Amino acid sequence: MAQLSTQLKYYQQRIEKVLDSVLPPATINPAHLHEAMRYSVLGGGKRIRPLLVYATGEALGIDAHILDIPAAAVELIHVYSLIHDDLPAMDDDDLRHNKLTCHKAFDEATAILAGDALQALSSYLLAHSPQLSIPARQRLHLIELLTMASGSRGMAGGQAIDLMSTGQSLSEPELENMHIHKTGALIRAAVQLAVVAAGETSSHRKEKLDHYAKCVGLAFQVRDDILDIESDTETLGKPQGADIALDKVTYPAIMGLQNAREKALHLYTEAITQLDAFGSEADNLRNIADFIVKRLK
Ligand code: IPE
Ligand code: IPE
Ligand code: MG
Ligand code: MG
Ligand code: MG
Repeated sequence: MAQLSTQLKYYQQRIEKVLDSVLPPATINPAHLHEAMRYSVLGGGKRIRPLLVYATGEALGIDAHILDIPAAAVELIHVYSLIHDDLPAMDDDDLRHNKLTCHKAFDEATAILAGDALQALSSYLLAHSPQLSIPARQRLHLIELLTMASGSRGMAGGQAIDLMSTGQSLSEPELENMHIHKTGALIRAAVQLAVVAAGETSSHRKEKLDHYAKCVGLAFQVRDDILDIESDTETLGKPQGADIALDKVTYPAIMGLQNAREKALHLYTEAITQLDAFGSEADNLRNIADFIVKRLK
């Protein structure tokens, strides 16, 4: 299995502390809701999207300090999407990060509200956090990117396609379109957030990074689909076989496991090629791409 570099493991610890600091304490009212938000955000998850924010910042030579809030903002959206994805109205899953899903540990209404509140907190942080010392115009650009990637033309839209397509057969381009939206959009946004926070002006570098992000975003969901078949519940921390049980349209379902593996590998190669314009400063982006296609959870 691919290992994350020492620096990426450091970023995982760093974002954990940032998330802890931006979430409301469970002691203040409404305590039940704050507890649910903290329960779902803290102590679980690979933090791939924050890692992409930090690693892109590294490739562009900017300080991690400026990236803490953008990295937290995209992870809050991701966790909100997982809380809602697990609800009975969607995938109806009981297990996430080896513990009960939010609606099981609390209740459905609290899980819906925790997702809502995490989404709001994400934009609030980008708009307001004094820790994010960038001009207002840049802040606005970050909010624009992340809200667009989260909404009906991004993640939420992809989830809608996922639900509509369940039990049906999709063509490969239709499946790709679903994955690009439900998972790819937020991963692409993670890279774009760092590009904007860095004030990067070279359109060549911006295009290369965006192309890299599109490839790893799609590869991420292809690998997720493969792991639903290949892995086990304990390693995944979520129920293995859930896609088959729900008759979800996935890459392995459409093209078979072997072709799905090849698709992920092909996307990995395409992603890595985009980084040719960068030297060792992009090694952590290379490491993330490698991790994404080889990960076991
Ligand atoms: C799972 O995402 C849902 C998908 C978008 C495929 P992750 O695998 O990034 O979830 P965690 O946060 O690391 O558990
Ligand atoms: C979820 O995809 C994508 C999201 C936007 C949350 P999945 O439904 O495949 O994610 P898992 O497998 O439950 O983590
Ligand atoms: Mg789902
Ligand atoms: Mg799911
Ligand atoms: Mg899945």
